[in-house]
Amino acid sequence: MRLTIDDVRSRFIKHFDGTTGSVYASPGRINLIGEHTDYNNGFVFPGAVQQGMIAEIKPNGTRNVNAYSIDLKDKVTFSLDDPEGPSATWARYIFGVCREMMALGVPVEGFNTAFAGDVPLGAGMSSSAALESCFAFACNDLWGNNKIEKMELARVGQRTEHKYIGCNCGIMDQFASVFGKAGSLMRLDCRSGEFAYFPWNPNGYKLVLVNSCVKHQLAGSPYNDRRLSCERVAAVIAKHHSEVETLRDANYDYLEEVKSEVSDEDYKRAKYVIGEVDRVLKVCDALEEGDYETVGQMMYATHYGLSQEYEVSCEELDFLNDIAKDCGVTGSRIMGGGFGGCTINLVSNELYDNFVKTAKEKFQAKYGKEPIIIDVVIGDGSRKLC
Ligand code: GLA
Repeated sequence: MRLTIDDVRSRFIKHFDGTTGSVYASPGRINLIGEHTDYNNGFVFPGAVQQGMIAEIKPNGTRNVNAYSIDLKDKVTFSLDDPEGPSATWARYIFGVCREMMALGVPVEGFNTAFAGDVPLGAGMSSSAALESCFAFACNDLWGNNKIEKMELARVGQRTEHKYIGCNCGIMDQFASVFGKAGSLMRLDCRSGEFAYFPWNPNGYKLVLVNSCVKHQLAGSPYNDRRLSCERVAAVIAKHHSEVETLRDANYDYLEEVKSEVSDEDYKRAKYVIGEVDRVLKVCDALEEGDYETVGQMMYATHYGLSQEYEVSCEELDFLNDIAKDCGVTGSRIMGGGFGGCTINLVSNELYDNFVKTAKEKFQAKYGKEPIIIDVVIGDGSRKLC
């Protein structure tokens, strides 16, 4: 069941003073290809999904934010002027966004809010970016005269992750949530910020997520370590090739030159990233030709890299990837930051039913629970609902 405005509004009325406010929505995202490339200044190729966060917000004439998480049934009050902020992680996302908007000169005032989401948590579909983008968009609308540009709203979410949550993420998730457009994927150059919409209507194929329901936690996790590996290798390459700022600027030859100067582990991590930046561009070209076989091969190559070189997969996701391969699925790979969550699969219409059935049965037999199947529909980005 999809989340509706009424689900949120009824709780807002119940938990506050009976009046209503303004309602905003922001989506989660999928990513066709380009994983762990964003913080290396490479390319990504995400799209927003229909699932997301909905928040009702009403200024309350104080400096306090009273926030109610409908999903967690938890209420937190924090002051906009207390630099410490609340301790509950979910409330820190809202606090961080408000503080970052204030730092941009937006005169955010105290408010009451109730919010809920239908992005599965920990599935690698960016529920946290949906939350951040929703509140950044709302603050801009309510107190900023919509003067802050959309890319800056995405950066507000990213800075919130860095400064208030402890996850040194790239820009992909917040970008996708803010800029999403129904029916289109987006190729973003994370170095220049340039992006293009690519209509997504793969004739004869479906995109389907298979959620292993293994929960990942990126904050303070190996995610930050991966980023450090990339930065270390880029710094060593830069000693030989001064034009190299990030792995985006490197190539396999440069990497080979410094092989003895970096750890084996860092070498593998960098090898994956250099290949992945290139795969995004290959996928874009292939899509323009309607060549889904190449798109699929690139997805499998990404999975291999994420699993064996970048080492952010897990047993369950590798198992789901093998099932996809066995079923003849065109492309399949782990999606998002890793360490759990979903695989994203490009499946021809005729193989779809069998793939879904087989994935459910085999996963259930091995892990004692069914994976959750999510058909991808590419939806719109951050917006005001009413
Ligand atoms: C997480 C991060 C993104 C990106 C992906 C991996 O979702 O938030 O910035 O790095 O992992 O592609």
